Amino acid sequence: MAVTLAFDVYGTLIDTHGLVAMLKGMVGDRAAEFSRTWRERQLEYAFRRALMQNYVPFSVCTAQALDHTCTLYKTPLRPDQRTALLDAYRTLPAFPDVADGLARLRAAGFRLYAFSNGTKAAVRTLLDAAGIADLFLGVISTDDVRSFKPDPAVYSHFLGAAGATDAETWLVSSNPFDVIGALSAGWRAAWVRRSSEALFDPWGLAPTVTVTDLRDLAAAIAP
Ligand code: LAC
Repeated sequence: MAVTLAFDVYGTLIDTHGLVAMLKGMVGDRAAEFSRTWRERQLEYAFRRALMQNYVPFSVCTAQALDHTCTLYKTPLRPDQRTALLDAYRTLPAFPDVADGLARLRAAGFRLYAFSNGTKAAVRTLLDAAGIADLFLGVISTDDVRSFKPDPAVYSHFLGAAGATDAETWLVSSNPFDVIGALSAGWRAAWVRRSSEALFDPWGLAPTVTVTDLRDLAAAIAP
C-alpha cells in the first residue's frame, strides 16, 4: 500500500505570519512580535479547549487569541480592522516551497491529505486560495471529532478517515507539538524546519526526519 502523508496546514503549508505587513499598519513596529503572540495564544487556546473538552471551531480560538493579544499589547483595533485581519487569515499565503514540494511528493506516488485543526471549509478555502487544493486526496479535520491536536483521538480519527494504518502514515509538520503527537501515536513524522531558530522540545523524542525545505522531503522519505 502506498505511504500516506498527513500535512499539517497552519504553520507548515500556510504561513501564519503572512499578515505581518498588514499588522504593521495597525499595531506598528511590534507587528512581528504581535503575530507570534497571536499564534501562540491561538494554539494555547486549542490545547486548553481539547483538555477541557470545551470545543469551539479553530476560527474562534483564532479570534479570541487576537482579542487577547490586542489587550496584552495595549493596541485596540477598530471593528473594521479586526474584521479585515480575520478575513485575511482565511486566505493566508502558502510558503514558497509548498506547491513544488507537494507536486514532487505526488509524482513519487505518496497519498497526500491535509490534516488540520481548521474546519474542512476553512482548510479548503486556504488551499484553494494558495492554488494547491488539487494536490490532495482530501482534507481531514480534527473538527470531525470536536477536539484539537495533539489529542490522540485526532490522530486515530485521521487513520480511519484516510483508510491508512499507523505503520504506513507520516505526519509532515513544522509544529513540534504536532510531530510529537504523531510519534506518540505510532506514526513516523517529518519536521519541516524552515528556520534554524525553530526549536524542538526536549522530550526525549526526535522527528523521524528533518528537512528545511518541502522540496527535499520526497528524497528524505523515499521508501
Ligand atoms: C493545524 C494547526 C496545528 O493546522 O496549526 O492543525
